[in-house]
Amino acid sequence: MSQSRWLRRTGAARLEFGADYNPEQWPREVWDDDARAMRTAGVTIVTLGVFSWALLEPAEGEYDFGWLDDAMDLMHVNGIAVDLATATASPPPWLTTKHPEILPVTADGVTLWPGGRQQWRPTSAVFRTHALRLTRAMAERYGGHPALVAWHVSNELGCHNIYDYSDDAAAAFRLWLRERYATLDALNAAWATAFWSQHLSAWEQVLPPRTAASFPNPTQQLDFKRFSSDALKDHLRAERAVLREVTPDVPVTTNFMVMGETKGMNYADWAAEVDFVSNDHYVQPGPQGRDELSFSANLTGGLAGGRPWFLMEHSTSAVNWQPVNVAKRPGELARDSMTHVAYGADAVCYFQWRQSAAGAEKYHSGMIPHAGEDSTLFRAVADLGKRLGDLAPLAGTPRTPARAAILFDWESWWAAEADSHPTDRLRYRQEALDWYTAFLDLGVRADVLPVAAPLDGYDLVVAPILHVVPASLASRLTAFVQAGGHLVATYFSGVVDENDHVWLGGYPGPLRDLLGIRIEEFAPLLDDERVTLDNGSTGTLWTDRIDVSTEDVEVLARYTTGDQAGRPAVTWNPTAGGAAGYVSTRLGPQGLATVLGEFLSRAGIESELPPDQRGKVELAIRGDFHFLINRTDEPIDLGGYLLAADGVVVVRE
Ligand code: GAL
Repeated sequence: MSQSRWLRRTGAARLEFGADYNPEQWPREVWDDDARAMRTAGVTIVTLGVFSWALLEPAEGEYDFGWLDDAMDLMHVNGIAVDLATATASPPPWLTTKHPEILPVTADGVTLWPGGRQQWRPTSAVFRTHALRLTRAMAERYGGHPALVAWHVSNELGCHNIYDYSDDAAAAFRLWLRERYATLDALNAAWATAFWSQHLSAWEQVLPPRTAASFPNPTQQLDFKRFSSDALKDHLRAERAVLREVTPDVPVTTNFMVMGETKGMNYADWAAEVDFVSNDHYVQPGPQGRDELSFSANLTGGLAGGRPWFLMEHSTSAVNWQPVNVAKRPGELARDSMTHVAYGADAVCYFQWRQSAAGAEKYHSGMIPHAGEDSTLFRAVADLGKRLGDLAPLAGTPRTPARAAILFDWESWWAAEADSHPTDRLRYRQEALDWYTAFLDLGVRADVLPVAAPLDGYDLVVAPILHVVPASLASRLTAFVQAGGHLVATYFSGVVDENDHVWLGGYPGPLRDLLGIRIEEFAPLLDDERVTLDNGSTGTLWTDRIDVSTEDVEVLARYTTGDQAGRPAVTWNPTAGGAAGYVSTRLGPQGLATVLGEFLSRAGIESELPPDQRGKVELAIRGDFHFLINRTDEPIDLGGYLLAADGVVVVRE
């Protein structure tokens, strides 16, 4: 059973604290210093071996485990646990030289050469054989090591190699399609190949959506996204099978990347494959950076089914891969880490322990910066270590569900942002994040849930751009409303089925009756176009030509300008049991807060915060532990207690 285990260790429950540790980048004498400083900082766990393949297996089948034995032992004698990587993330030069056929190929046919990292095809049998051999060797060597508490499969699967268009990928894609569709007739029907002379008369004619003369077939593209996510999931399962065979008592995880626009891996589908969910998160620049962190942590908690999860990587300060890499301000380090804890992280780890002196990541922060231990940064790290130590009683506490939820759906993300659509400006995750910000602005907790999560217990569920709605999902949502739930959908929801075929008869297809509306035509807006609504908000990006189909539907806001002037912009249909609302334009966080306030009051949901704290303070609850996070840059008076700018306070009820 998935996600039922935590680290293999005895002793009192605690929150883990640590980092990726890359001792191989440093002379041996530094390691002892590392271990001492780790103790000073309160480090309890490190990840070893992530990019160590070339040093661990310097020639085919010849291993050099001596240095890793030494590092494992050093951690153990210092009481530090190890989450050990299988070390397969980046194949060594001898392998890519001998077998260049493992290198990924882009849609344009360009080979991605070695020199960076993760230069392997997810579907290469040659790569798989070599990776599994190393995995087995690692498991056999370290399975019984007392420092080992978990396996870390590969690293950020799909970070650079999610889409491979090589011949290996083509062959594997055909097999995947055969499994999904069984017959060529079914594939032709799903891909609607009657269009543009695309009818397939033999399986060999099937290709990945390589760069084409015009838009590649949309269902081919969607299936290729599904296939690519599955191909990496298959790699995860293959390494896991070896690890479970050799070391059944050691839990297996891999670090997801629930953050920003990283969208290739359907983590809702992967979550069941790991013994506990792990995530990496880096703060996105921009005004919603703080909320985006919270949203990602919240969604990670949703993937973990509300159970605690492992924050495998985030940064103490700047990263190295944004156009401009801004250092964190004092206080941000702890606030960011504590926000993850608020949403369920029972382990707080960074990339990386000691900032590299050389290599592409030398300007990426670490727990020990270039300046050394005598630094503001290291002191902040050690303070956090102490604070997490004091929070040990929190360990293992699941999150306390909110009454509202935002649904997140990878397939809708993929399909809604495809080419040849009414607009190419639509951003799925941004719309979801805007709703989340609106909830935070109103001081109301909302869980971010994968779309397949059970909805029992929720009073209000928002489904932003739920574009792909198979009949089964429409039935689930209808049942939720019939049972008294309140559902809100937005523009471009309910438009296509699982094959990306439009539901006919008027949009939004299978949600039409539930919403009590019918849309004959979409009316997207040009970049500089704005429309106003009679509730004072402004819409961009999109509008719909809505007709209300029953008298029961209340129009909560109408357009006052633009082609839809006078028509409904926001609707609400009180229907059997509950109600279903629709928002037909992009309102942004501020405009959404206005309509959301209305939806919340109709669903009977109130903020759990005192009125003067709403919007300024973010509340997250794990059992008895209430986290109050300052969303502003000013101190906030919590009634006798001053919550510092960037501060987080944990109150035990
Ligand atoms: C992650 C990766 C780490 C490190 C980090 C830098 O993608 O797993 O190895 O590169 O980013 O932010």
